[in-house]
Amino acid sequence: MSEKTWKEKMEALLKQKKWDMKDWHRALGLNQWQLENLMAMDTTQLDPESLQNIYDDTKAAKLDKKMMRFESPVIIVVWTHKGGTGKSTTAMNMSYELSRRGYNVLGIDIDSQSDMSSVLYPNYLEQPDVSFYEAFSMHDDFMEPGYIRHTEYVNLDIIPGSAKCEGLEGQLGVLDQNIRGRIWEKCLRTIRKDNYYDFIFVDMDKTAGLMNVAALAEADFVLSPLEPAIFAVKAVPPVLAQVEEVRKNNPKLKILGFLYNKVDMRKKRSLPESLELVEEIAPGLAFKSFIKNDANIDNSQREHYPLGVYNRSCAANKQMIEVADELLEKVKEKSDKVVK
Ligand SMILES: Nc1ncnc2c1ncn2[C@@H]1O[C@H](COP(=O)(O)OP(=O)(O)OP(=O)(O)O)[C@@H](O)[C@H]1O
Ligand SMILES: [Mg+2]
Repeated sequence: MSEKTWKEKMEALLKQKKWDMKDWHRALGLNQWQLENLMAMDTTQLDPESLQNIYDDTKAAKLDKKMMRFESPVIIVVWTHKGGTGKSTTAMNMSYELSRRGYNVLGIDIDSQSDMSSVLYPNYLEQPDVSFYEAFSMHDDFMEPGYIRHTEYVNLDIIPGSAKCEGLEGQLGVLDQNIRGRIWEKCLRTIRKDNYYDFIFVDMDKTAGLMNVAALAEADFVLSPLEPAIFAVKAVPPVLAQVEEVRKNNPKLKILGFLYNKVDMRKKRSLPESLELVEEIAPGLAFKSFIKNDANIDNSQREHYPLGVYNRSCAANKQMIEVADELLEKVKEKSDKVVK
């Protein structure tokens, strides 16, 4: 009888450990797409020593039981009714931070400013005709070849934005409400079925236009960045009202939290005062962690890097890590997609 191939031995080991591809990728810290490709290709031509190393590492690896598994991807839209509060900053850095922890993350950039794309996938302008705009306006499945780009960061993919996204509002306006309401669902069909992604972060603009409302209608959570200023708190009631409205058709939509950003550490009273105001109108919904005003954030974006790559040890990034911890706790507590 012929000796077992590497792939047969690998399959037997995964079966013995009761690991699927997601468990395997999490335990090894390797990219899941690469592992899937490896199992699908003819490995007899590959370097036997490297293959043996993967086998040995798999045998020795342990699964981090604390990582959550979901029945389908958790969709978090980053939205508030005010401009410049840190929506793109939060969307890009939370996407990066969770992917760094081993979660498979997809960023979807629906804002015509494409700020998330310019940081997570700076080459996005090289293929201007394959972006969120084309996918959405043609009602294509996002998994059709070309739309999803692998960033240079492990476990982090993106559907890049485009200046043309502004035109989607007009396109949606002429559609029948029923059709309009089904586009996101159609685009997300294979992504939901495959359940490869754990988290999807959608970076939106500040409007309550048809596009954003359509995205809210497919989402699980709204994450809403605020600045600790009296006027900024005015953005809270419109978010609460919009979420209530969307919940009539999408009852699973919840507010994950209001997150304070650009906190001026010299103004000692501004954060607690602002927190008190939010607590009055949205009890229990403010994040305990916050992000200070820090030039590293602006600079990292100018250099096209997530903050955690640009300067992992700066104070704002330490806070970003705390926000990611709290975000995961909130998802665990509020999401009914967590596999027990
Ligand atoms: N904590 C922070 N400290 C310093 N600068 C910040 C911080 N957060 C965001 N910024 C900067 O503020 C500007 C606005 O942030 P960002 O683009 O994330 O906001 P936004 O809500 O997405 O804006 P828009 O409504 O235009 O989409 C950017 O230049 C960003 O670099
Ligand atoms: Mg933005």
